[in-house]
Amino acid sequence: MEGGSWPQTTGIGHTRWATHGEPSDLNAHPHTSTDGKIAVVHNGIIENYIPLKEKLIAQGHRFVSDTDTEVIAHLVSSNYKGDILEAVKETVKELQGSYSVAVLCQDEPDKLIAIRKNSPLIIGLGEGENFIASDIPAILKHTRTIYLLDNDEVAVLTKDDVKVYDELGKEVEKQSLKIDWDPGDAEKGGYDHFMLKEIHEQPRAIQDTLTGRITEDGEIKLDDIKLDKETLDNFDHIQIVACGTAYNAGMLGKQYIEKYARIPVEMEAASEYRYKNPIVSDKTLLIVLSQSGETADTLAAIDIAKKQGARVLAITNVVGSSIAREADDILYTNAGPEIAVASTKAYVTQVACMLLIALYMGELKGNVTKEEADEVLAALKESSDLIQRALDDADKIKDFAYEHFKNEDMYLIGRGEDYVTAMEGSLKIKEISYVHSESFPAGELKHGPIALIEDGTVVLAVATQENTFEKLLSNIKEVKARGAHVLAITSDDHPEIMTEVDQAFLIPKTNQVVAPIPAVVYLQLFAYYLAVARGCDVDKPKNLAKSVTVE
Ligand code: M6R
Repeated sequence: MEGGSWPQTTGIGHTRWATHGEPSDLNAHPHTSTDGKIAVVHNGIIENYIPLKEKLIAQGHRFVSDTDTEVIAHLVSSNYKGDILEAVKETVKELQGSYSVAVLCQDEPDKLIAIRKNSPLIIGLGEGENFIASDIPAILKHTRTIYLLDNDEVAVLTKDDVKVYDELGKEVEKQSLKIDWDPGDAEKGGYDHFMLKEIHEQPRAIQDTLTGRITEDGEIKLDDIKLDKETLDNFDHIQIVACGTAYNAGMLGKQYIEKYARIPVEMEAASEYRYKNPIVSDKTLLIVLSQSGETADTLAAIDIAKKQGARVLAITNVVGSSIAREADDILYTNAGPEIAVASTKAYVTQVACMLLIALYMGELKGNVTKEEADEVLAALKESSDLIQRALDDADKIKDFAYEHFKNEDMYLIGRGEDYVTAMEGSLKIKEISYVHSESFPAGELKHGPIALIEDGTVVLAVATQENTFEKLLSNIKEVKARGAHVLAITSDDHPEIMTEVDQAFLIPKTNQVVAPIPAVVYLQLFAYYLAVARGCDVDKPKNLAKSVTVE
């Protein structure tokens, strides 16, 4: 730093997700009090920031940003009477909303104060150094021992010590948690992007999901789920709630559970569920899926369902995450940290978990024979090899993406499970390449979407399901006849498709319920190369955050 050395060793920073005001230097964190003595970073939303700001302005505080966060700095400053911990505790009483906040005070330079309410915050415990972060990968390079801060707790960190207090100011004995993720998992490891690395990690991720959950004699063991036959029989329906990619995995889960357990399943986006007054009782099993375990909409859905008596089963990737802590039963995906905003390995492992749960329920219900379960489980175990086959085709997928990267619209079609794969492929394309893409059940083409097909339109067709293959082939012929450029993904039982389309990928024969796992990998790679060809920032697509901890 200009002017000589600067002895300070405590610091805070935050990559801001713009909730108030445009992304700009003025709106960037940290935000400071008028005298510059208090600095804060904040994740979440302060809902009552307008009246607080008006009050503080009337008291003479000068605001420089459009953010809600800045009120926290000014409030702490106005509450500061020589003890930063006390000032923060006073401040918390006035805040409404969701927040994880770190506070520094110039007069107590060795302390960092952290607070949390409905927004993720972890404390990393090091040797002569301590950390706070909103997500585990951020600190993995430094430590794998963490505390999970609970809602309404306040932590005081110095380099040698961490103290945590509850709402009433009583010191809390925190149990530390050991994270078994490899620090290397949070590095790109030679890949150009985290997304590509994570796509390539999928064979291993699936194996890690299955490890210890299928015994030698083919029994499914889900130790973290305490659902016995009697409990399961008590549910008259299941609701699955999730967002984005996790929603798509839930869509497959619905199909699997209805197929194997014969229990009616409703699927709902968490952002819709929370405002629709859902019909829930103690006969409801709510299944939620979330990579991060911190998605605000999904957490709100859990809260609503629990208050009405539902039991909650969570499928998540992050040990000790808020969703894991709220759920009655948990199945961890064990995918390892997912850094890229675009979810890939979390999706295939969520699908694998849903299949395990569906078979497990099917067996409890007596609807699935041992032979049937064995066959699906064997296919599931082999799915890593099938993913590898898809990865081996990366160059061909890249060529197709590079040929068509100037197209501004793309359509994806499929039926049944294949339609869900199309939905997930479409989401990947949108979020990282910014190409407008839509997925349709292929049978719906004739009810409207086919009007969009013209010379050169890109159509990605997923046709892995035997019972609908012929129907899908007809749909492919319909769009080809109108000039579409078609990439198809099917099984190697159907080499005849090669002469009908511009590019085809044949998945080695597998059980149909498992086929969505390798099939989606072709679409992930296509979306990835499309984004690269278009010069997009693959790992950090515009307007998106990895964990959506605000509404
Ligand atoms: O952490 P979650 O699984 O709850 O996140 C849900 C969605 O925000 C997430 O899947 C999002 O759609 C991804 N960016 C998709 O790639």
